Amino acid sequence: MPENTLTITDNRTGQVYTVPIEDGTIRAMSLRQIKTDAEDFGLMTYDPAFMNTASCRSSITYIDGDKGILRYRGYPIEVLAERCTFLEVAFLLMFGELPTQTDLKSWVNDITHHTMLHESTKKFMEGFRYDSHPMAMFVSTVAALSSIYPEARQVHDVNNRMLQIKRLIGKVPSIAASAYRHNMGFPYVYPDNDLSYTENFMNMLWKMVEPKYVANPTLARALDILFILHADHEQNCGTNAMRSVASAQTDPYLATASAASALAGPLHGGANEEVLKMLDEIGSKENVPAYIKKVKEGHGRLMGFGHRVYKNYDPRAKIIKWTAEQVFEVTGRNPKLDIALELERIALEDEYFVKRKLYPNVDFYSGIMYQAMGFPPEMFTVLFAIPRTAGWLSQWQELINDPEQKITRPRQVYTGYNQREFVPMERRTAILV
Ligand code: ACO
Repeated sequence: MPENTLTITDNRTGQVYTVPIEDGTIRAMSLRQIKTDAEDFGLMTYDPAFMNTASCRSSITYIDGDKGILRYRGYPIEVLAERCTFLEVAFLLMFGELPTQTDLKSWVNDITHHTMLHESTKKFMEGFRYDSHPMAMFVSTVAALSSIYPEARQVHDVNNRMLQIKRLIGKVPSIAASAYRHNMGFPYVYPDNDLSYTENFMNMLWKMVEPKYVANPTLARALDILFILHADHEQNCGTNAMRSVASAQTDPYLATASAASALAGPLHGGANEEVLKMLDEIGSKENVPAYIKKVKEGHGRLMGFGHRVYKNYDPRAKIIKWTAEQVFEVTGRNPKLDIALELERIALEDEYFVKRKLYPNVDFYSGIMYQAMGFPPEMFTVLFAIPRTAGWLSQWQELINDPEQKITRPRQVYTGYNQREFVPMERRTAILV
């Protein structure tokens, strides 16, 4: 019997099957041969929420959740955050290697020259209600780019695909900044091509009447580090949405809008906004024990705590905590930090959280830092979506180039009625009243 195999005995029939094991997985399709009779469809796996199902082979991001390890293309996140710029990391995610000086220059140049929004996109954004949530504006405007660049539908054309990738990475900060200015009631600011990716983003957010906006270098670097930390995170909810939608050969604007929609949820990227609401609700350090008690009694969750994959400290949270300290030296300390530190201290000692391996995740400290920099909580998830766009698009490229991938289409376990006899109106029972 070959060593890398699994032997299965079907106790319903007594039949024995041998299926190959590859990379610690068995193919779900290997189970289809397991049938009780010729009419039987064959065995399936049932895995709501994909708790134990690999949906693709990927060489982009590696996570060891038990050890708290995160690597992009083999490089530890800590090293990338310390030594690289965000666009350098975006290149790494996309092409698999760190760029040379010449590659980086050309990549940065191309992305910089795609930061401008078409005037009709600007008009589209002006149509949003004055108080629209920036994440709703972001998602809708990214989707609307599909109407400006119809050639993006040619997803199998390599050059065309790269053009859309550069456009998207270039334009997402412009869309995000316009959403922010829209809420503030200020005119949108055109990009400044002399500036770096993050400085230009800050320029589009905060330039008022000065002829040239000069970003604080500590804050610009902090934002760049946060962008690096958020750039990719393997098959999370948003990335799975990206891959699932793009598997239908949908264009990258619509697929990215779907991924961003998933990210907007409070259990995913929307958690950073919820953390700030929670800290507001707690109000002061003294109220922390009572709040934790409430959570343990089943009233709500500690936002910014817990992760499907990390069952140890989220390595990104550690770097964010350090970066936040640099930011506070410029902006002054966010008073919410004391509440957060107390919450973390008590939760990390509490049996409820220890037993369930609930640690602070990426969203726990990012919001406190963003708020100190001047962002309203509604912008936090948008700040997550900007760099994650580079990750989504890298995953999209990988999907398109993977000959094993087809349109995503899970199976179901049907639990409804078998065929029923039609019920005429006069014999039906009311359900709504
Ligand atoms: N506060 C209190 N209890 C929690 C929390 C939390 N934040 N997270 C999980 N638990 C408890 C659950 O109630 C459950 O307890 P039980 O076994 O007694 O029923 C147990 O821990 C396991 O929780 P699950 O929901 O099964 O864990 P799952 O892996 O499905 O969820 C998730 C992961 C969604 C991140 C969850 O921890 C959560 O809701 N956290 C708060 C929201 C958040 O911070 N999301 C951001 C995640 S990072 C990101 O997406 C960018």
